[in-house]
Amino acid sequence: MSTKSRLNVISASTRTGRAGPAIASWFTEIARAESGFDVHHVDLAALNLPFLDEPEAAVEGLSYAHEHTRQWSAMTRAADAFVFVLPEYNRGYPASLKNALDFLYYEWNDKPVAFVSYGMSSGGMRAVEAIKPVVSTLKMMPINEAVTIHLRQTIDDEGALQPTAAMEKAAATLLTELGRVTAAFTAIRPS
Ligand SMILES: Cc1cc2nc3c(=O)[nH]c(=O)nc-3n(C[C@H](O)[C@H](O)[C@H](O)COP(=O)(O)O)c2cc1C
Repeated sequence: MSTKSRLNVISASTRTGRAGPAIASWFTEIARAESGFDVHHVDLAALNLPFLDEPEAAVEGLSYAHEHTRQWSAMTRAADAFVFVLPEYNRGYPASLKNALDFLYYEWNDKPVAFVSYGMSSGGMRAVEAIKPVVSTLKMMPINEAVTIHLRQTIDDEGALQPTAAMEKAAATLLTELGRVTAAFTAIRPS
């Protein structure tokens, strides 16, 4: 069994032709090569959760009516830290991610989350600012160190991601800080 901290890298976008998977696999490769985390990629499109259909709010307890919630709970409970790979949609973040967050509560508590955001005009920064109050309500610790990807400068004519040196440096800085904070939060979380 791995003794490394487990990092779930969650791809938020679900639409056909999305840029998300290329960005998530770029980041996941760096995380596997350069961090001490046990890295897992979670694609919300593949997870395919319905809109929240649990009769009770997750904060009421850990008794779920549906198998898809139990599976999502187990995947999330197993993680010590998260990176959300998220695009900006209409100055917000994707509904798929809000829905996935709302399914659970205690599974997110006392765990750090960092952001790899992307967009056409602001690198997804407004999506990140919009999600911070939500993750704070779930008692997560948002990490300031982030990767901010301006798609106009990083997607070539064939639609392929062309990572810049600044992106690589930002990813390394994010992972260092996430590792530091994860160790602290793991220590205070009841086992
Ligand atoms: C519904 C929708 C709304 C968007 N709104 C914004 C926006 O507010 N700001 C921005 O910078 N880009 C915006 N974009 C551009 C996206 O950031 C860009 O298309 C990105 O590739 C979307 O991520 P995805 O391909 O993984 O779905 C929007 C795209 C979509 C589909």
